[in-house]
Amino acid sequence: MRTFKVGILGAGVISRTYLADIKAFYKELDVVACADVNVEAAKKLATEFQVPKFYSTEDLLKDEEIEIVINLTPPQFHVSLNKEIIKAGKNVFSEKPFATNISEAKEVLDLAADQGVKVGCAPDTFLSSGLQSLRYYLDGGIIGKPFFVTANMTTFGVETWHPNPLPFYKKGSGPLYDMAGYYLSAIVSILGPIESIAAFDATGVENRHIYVGPKAGEDIIPEIPTHYTSILRLKSGVVVNFNISFDIYKSNLPMFEIYGDGGTLTYPDPNFGGGTPRVYRKEQYTDVIYRDDVEALERKEKFYDLPELFPRVKDYSRGLGVLDLANAIETKTSNRANGELILHITEAIEGIIKSSESGEFYKMMTTCERPRPMKVGGFLDEV
Ligand SMILES: NC(=O)c1ccc[n+]([C@@H]2O[C@H](COP(=O)([O-])OP(=O)(O)OC[C@H]3O[C@@H](n4cnc5c(N)ncnc54)[C@H](O)[C@@H]3O)[C@@H](O)[C@H]2O)c1
Repeated sequence: MRTFKVGILGAGVISRTYLADIKAFYKELDVVACADVNVEAAKKLATEFQVPKFYSTEDLLKDEEIEIVINLTPPQFHVSLNKEIIKAGKNVFSEKPFATNISEAKEVLDLAADQGVKVGCAPDTFLSSGLQSLRYYLDGGIIGKPFFVTANMTTFGVETWHPNPLPFYKKGSGPLYDMAGYYLSAIVSILGPIESIAAFDATGVENRHIYVGPKAGEDIIPEIPTHYTSILRLKSGVVVNFNISFDIYKSNLPMFEIYGDGGTLTYPDPNFGGGTPRVYRKEQYTDVIYRDDVEALERKEKFYDLPELFPRVKDYSRGLGVLDLANAIETKTSNRANGELILHITEAIEGIIKSSESGEFYKMMTTCERPRPMKVGGFLDEV
């Protein structure tokens, strides 16, 4: 695969993870420029990672060398900036959320189709070693026919670690727009598209407090619910209980577990690249010899680690979706975190909100194919 010239737009917290990981693991992506509305921030990032150019957004868009822009600006700028990037004739990989509703998402994707450029969007964690391995084992029938999933994103928001937590509690943000994509893309890529949604919201903590950064000591009054409990019915018939919260200090709920008629698959955290899937098979339970046999009794109690089948670059990593996009540009194929998936995930998030506000089931209008699996042992089909 040839090398692609890449520009980073938005020199904040996550840009450091992208740059470090791309430099360490994805040599096909050559980051040659950093841009930011605050050019000083772009300069600082470029200096930290020995990136040759730093400048404003306008200069990035004019730079003919750049083929792919990675948009790492705050959520409220994604739609407008992605449009600018596309109009400049560049391919874009955007951080999540892509948009707050499907009509805006469609506008961006239609524009990209008109301009003949490709679009990708985070989360790309479903391409990671752990989740691709989980999919491989599930497709191989290790727990038989799946029928139920529990997915639980239980945290206490971002104000104890993010230097700029306020935007996370504004309209168009919150736990759903910030975190649901990781879980929904894992669910859809592993088990297929969503058919309908029932959801309820709650706000566990009304007055929040900022603990770090320039605004430490100030309070935050959230503009949005900070907890959602939802049930998703997938087209395959699988039922998913999905809880997502910025109001929970600590929990023992599993982050991601799939139940089948032949056992249970468990996974540590869909927000992470690495993660060893673990399995509990029906036979461990039904082998009644455990009544007289200590080893069988031990087997009855525990999950077993399943070997990861793909390169695990790092536990928490970013950039694989950009490599997948570059590969799709070169091979004239579709990238995996593509428009169809983006629309479906965007609608699912909107559907959770609509159902919780209306008290009615939300029927999904969009659908998508499961993005094709990665080749066992390698990053991508061709790489
Ligand atoms: N922080 C994380 O751990 C994390 C993890 C995964 C994904 N993300 C996503 O990445 C994106 C960025 O998050 P972050 O935490 O790095 O944000 P941040 O606030 O730390 O950084 C954002 C940067 O974008 C710049 N910016 C703001 N408006 C701009 C504009 N109109 N044009 C150009 N530059 C502009 C800011 O000056 C800042 O340098 C968000 O969409 C977020 O959801 C963040």
